[in-house]
Amino acid sequence: MVSQDTPRPSNPIQVPVHHITTGPQQPSAEEPIVEVEGLNAWYGHFHTLKDINLRIPRRRITAIIGPSGCGKSTFIRCLNRMHELVPGARVEGKVLFEGQDIYDPQVDPVEVRTRIGMVFQKPNPFPKSVFENVAFGLRIHGYRGNLREAVERSLKAAALWDEVKDKLHQNALRLSGGQQQRLCIARTIAIEPEVILMDEPCSALDPIATLKIEDLMRELTQRYTIVIVTHNMQQAARVSDYTAVMMMDEDRGGRIVEFGPTREVFTNPKDPRTEAYITGRIG
Ligand SMILES: Nc1ncnc2c1ncn2[C@@H]1O[C@H](COP(=O)(O)OP(=O)(O)OP(=O)(O)O)[C@@H](O)[C@H]1O
Ligand SMILES: [Mg+2]
Repeated sequence: MVSQDTPRPSNPIQVPVHHITTGPQQPSAEEPIVEVEGLNAWYGHFHTLKDINLRIPRRRITAIIGPSGCGKSTFIRCLNRMHELVPGARVEGKVLFEGQDIYDPQVDPVEVRTRIGMVFQKPNPFPKSVFENVAFGLRIHGYRGNLREAVERSLKAAALWDEVKDKLHQNALRLSGGQQQRLCIARTIAIEPEVILMDEPCSALDPIATLKIEDLMRELTQRYTIVIVTHNMQQAARVSDYTAVMMMDEDRGGRIVEFGPTREVFTNPKDPRTEAYITGRIG
């Protein structure tokens, strides 16, 4: 794993130091790292996300599930200020990260994206060497430690080191899809984010590579909070601690209709739409 003593990039969002809670608890009892309050999002005049409220527990995996087009990707892009990169897109409401609203005008969105990283659906390594893919982010964040060691640490943390240690200078595009996705995870964790957002990270992978990423996710929760969008119900049930279910209203606006411990959501859903969705009757 990435060592605890790696210097973190300077941090303009001043955050209180929280004590970490461990053990299985109800969501209300778990300490949240991100609290979404009254979040609404638009693309131009299209009101895409409506009144989203969610507390994302620290060092847990939270899955976001729901039918295609209900706003899952839009929602997680609002969690690290990527939504606003789309021309005409807009957000209202609060996303408190360690108690501070990331939409506060004082907050630097680039810094937010450093602390809340994102892994995309399609592995997107740079057309550079394996080593450079991981070193690049460290360099642009002014990393002053030993770069080789930091790259090795990140590749080990992403469960990729053994497969690439003899080809660090080979082009990353020659790796398999599953290896490329783990490289993207290594690149994300190299800069030590606190939260990792994953938008269908396994949808381009075979079942074996998928299981490797899922094992890796469980491993990463020792240090990181993960929010994963997935269409794969088995994956949500296998890997996540909590599940949020999103649905569209009659105007195609996305809302969260249910949130709770994954086991409860899957075995004893409170909302009939959740049951219909997980049993394949909606979506
Ligand atoms: N760049 C964009 N400009 C305009 N509308 C968009 C844009 N991206 C997404 N939308 C619309 O916002 C809504 C939510 O899209 P989003 O991609 O967040 O859904 P999703 O739940 O991730 O779907 P999927 O499961 O298919 O990935 C959809 O109606 C979509 O057409
Ligand atoms: Mg999506």
